[in-house]
Amino acid sequence: MKIFIDSANVEQIKEVASWGILDGVTTNPTLVAKEKTEFKSLIHQICDIVDGPISVEAVSLTADEIINEARSLAALHRNIVIKIPMTEEGLKATKKLSDEGIKVNMTLVFSPAQALFAAKAGAKYISPFVGRLDDVGHSGMELVGQILDILDNYDLESEVIVASVRHPGHVIEAAMMGAHIATVPYDVLKKMFRHPLTDVGIERFLKDWEKVSGR
Ligand code: G3P
Repeated sequence: MKIFIDSANVEQIKEVASWGILDGVTTNPTLVAKEKTEFKSLIHQICDIVDGPISVEAVSLTADEIINEARSLAALHRNIVIKIPMTEEGLKATKKLSDEGIKVNMTLVFSPAQALFAAKAGAKYISPFVGRLDDVGHSGMELVGQILDILDNYDLESEVIVASVRHPGHVIEAAMMGAHIATVPYDVLKKMFRHPLTDVGIERFLKDWEKVSGR
């Protein structure tokens, strides 16, 4: 399973990259706005840290505008993936851009039907937002399972990025289902490698080690 960080914060990205488990980055307009810094230089900094797919969102609303915006974003770096919201115009743009070899991450996906269309339009990645579905009383992980089945039934090549992750359980469930990628916020990533019994175990070993002669 590939692990992406869902963040535009350079310090967070650097720290997680240093763990040796980071495969890519996803950003969105909200995450970029939080950084209060010049957009293109921020994207360049992120691309310098992680040599993997870096999703950057197009904010245009018509297909022609999305295509123009995507081409200029894709020109920033070879690893840029264009995040395009799941709309009729977004689908048209996805088809055109995918045919041109520009990778698309179809975002704001909340139903299996949307995912099927995204895959057929050639999206390299499909991002179901599991946390936001859970927030409104649906099951985000059930959607992930449905999308994986559909892709598998027809050998569709899109990869699922489990997004809007709220806790480690989302990531583990996604991994057990065989989801290709989870994009995980920094605070959830931190929770994933910590366990109180690991800390207690280290403390106990160190204490006992002090009793060993000749060390
Ligand atoms: O980046 C897309 C998605 O992961 C956003 O998550 O927490 O705003 O629902 P959230």
